[in-house]
Amino acid sequence: MFEMHEMTVRFSIGDALRDASLRIAPGDRLGIVGESGSGKSMLAACLMGMVPQSATLSGRLTIDGTDMTHAAEDLWQTIRARRAAMIFQEPMSALNPLRRVGDTVAEPMRVHLGLGKAQARARVQALFEEVGIPDPSARLRMFPHELSGGQRQRVLIALALACDPELLIADEPTTALDANVALKITDLLVHLSQSRNMALVFISHDLAAVARATTEIAVMYGGDIVERGPTAAVLGTPAHPYTQGLLAARPDPRAMPREADGSRRRLPTIPGSVPPLQAMAKGCRFTGRCAVERSECASVKPVPTGPRHTTCHALLHEETP
Ligand SMILES: Nc1ncnc2c1ncn2[C@@H]1O[C@H](COP(=O)(O)OP(=O)(O)OP(=O)(O)O)[C@@H](O)[C@H]1O
Ligand SMILES: [Mg+2]
Repeated sequence: MFEMHEMTVRFSIGDALRDASLRIAPGDRLGIVGESGSGKSMLAACLMGMVPQSATLSGRLTIDGTDMTHAAEDLWQTIRARRAAMIFQEPMSALNPLRRVGDTVAEPMRVHLGLGKAQARARVQALFEEVGIPDPSARLRMFPHELSGGQRQRVLIALALACDPELLIADEPTTALDANVALKITDLLVHLSQSRNMALVFISHDLAAVARATTEIAVMYGGDIVERGPTAAVLGTPAHPYTQGLLAARPDPRAMPREADGSRRRLPTIPGSVPPLQAMAKGCRFTGRCAVERSECASVKPVPTGPRHTTCHALLHEETP
């Protein structure tokens, strides 16, 4: 169980993550959404003990009750080797172009699990099968450039699974893939989480993919988790004005909206853009872009409220007439 309690990641120019609280149990599938710069990767970095050294951490991060907030790097290395793994957006750059992919995936098994060459090879082959790589015995001898983008991402998933992690963080795992392959990789991650009872943190800009892959969701803006709860509920009835804006801005290929004169309607977008850290409001960081902004929003940080832990003054005001 990975638990974060009011984690803050502070840089000299501002907070990249503010008071983030989350709980990730075995088999949980948590989606993290939010515009670029909202702190999604920083939250993942916290869970992996990979926050840049220039940052100051506060709050509390525990793994099965053990406080890891200020744990030494060698302890984190053990966690990253055995218990928490991560896959990224670009499957080509994450693989060594000069190594056969089977050797790349075998290495952590040999180093961390102490497997011999033959044992590791058998395990790589079984993992390749598990992640849907056809003809694994031939594929494991190949170099990255001989594989398609989707197959390379499957190799990286196999690499992440090499030591049977309890948590897999997928940070934009399908952004570099075409739509059909992206869908298959998304479904593979869900399947692996279910069959292994492995927690999955799925970070994406693609709300449809998050809706498909996850059961819980955290919506981030400017380093804040502005709302969290069951995926279907949050996407169905978004509470925070930011979540509402994000959903309204989502392209819906089925709807093909048209104006009365037949022209294609422009997609709604949230006005403005995420400000840089040094320009963020002290209070609610959505200040300046919010349609229901109140006088206190810029200066007073809203307290998470209600079952969704929503951070919004306007909502709080609505609930207490
Ligand atoms: N080493 C660093 N020093 C200072 N600020 C940083 C550092 N790393 C990240 N940040 C800032 O932290 C904020 C959150 O960044 P993060 O990478 O987590 O966003 P993200 O939600 O993952 O965005 P994207 O969707 O583009 O991947 C940004 O404002 C970013 O500029
Ligand atoms: Mg990111």
